[in-house]
Amino acid sequence: MLVTVPGSSSNLGPGFDCLGIAWKLYDRIAFEPAGSLVITGCEERFRGPDNLAYQGFAAAFAEKGLPVPGVRIEFLQCDIPVSRGLGSSAALLAAGAAAANELGGLQLSGAELLDICTRIEGHPDNLAPSIFGGFTAAVCENGKAVTASCALHPSWRFLAVIPDFELSTAEARRVLPDSFSRSAAVFNLSRTALLLQAFENGDMDLLRFSLRDRIHQPYRLPLIPGADRVFAAAEEAGACACISGAGSTMLVIADSHTAVESCLTALSVAFPAWKLIKLEPDTNGLQISR
Ligand code: HSE
Repeated sequence: MLVTVPGSSSNLGPGFDCLGIAWKLYDRIAFEPAGSLVITGCEERFRGPDNLAYQGFAAAFAEKGLPVPGVRIEFLQCDIPVSRGLGSSAALLAAGAAAANELGGLQLSGAELLDICTRIEGHPDNLAPSIFGGFTAAVCENGKAVTASCALHPSWRFLAVIPDFELSTAEARRVLPDSFSRSAAVFNLSRTALLLQAFENGDMDLLRFSLRDRIHQPYRLPLIPGADRVFAAAEEAGACACISGAGSTMLVIADSHTAVESCLTALSVAFPAWKLIKLEPDTNGLQISR
């Protein structure tokens, strides 16, 4: 059985731990019943029971109070870079839980898979787009996630600027304060409301204004050397930028091919070792095939 799961960019400026967009950037993983746990097709360090695809698989069986059966997990395609803020851990958890659901006949709904994986991941913002596809808002309260599908105008163009260094989510969360001032809270919630309108209507001026944030980016940018160059290149091209998830990837958002191409040219000269990938939204979410 084959699971194809999209990566995602979460946060999108002010929508910390809530907003996310799924990308046509996929991991493909085969799951087959086996006598014990066997993991192939990935680096040695990911072949143990702490592999996130297996964690998701085991958690879905545990949810039903069932023992976890042996399984062979084969990574066939790993296009979502690891520890770069493109939702690779959420994608793996979701793939594993969905595979368990299918192989074990567990009859869990998409919403239940999201709840199970959110308990492990801690926040639903990458999981919701990976499972359902598209642009999502997701909130988890008392172990239950509530999600909404948000509108994305077809004129948006996206460029992932992927540094040649990893940034662990744990480290990128550790630098955040535990509490925020009222003005920071109002700054972010008001811009999140405007951001949804900007994305829906293809309004670049509104997006540029509303993509700003005071909850996470100011604390994380020092962990991403070169991020200032990305902001500058985006601005020069008439586009704007934010950190993708917890980073290290930066997401450039534009309303024309020309702006994306101009950022691509400038940034490939500035950062020859970084990867620049034009992204398109995925609207299907996780897919299972036999
Ligand atoms: N919302 C999360 C964060 C995404 O910014 O820490 C990373 O998993």
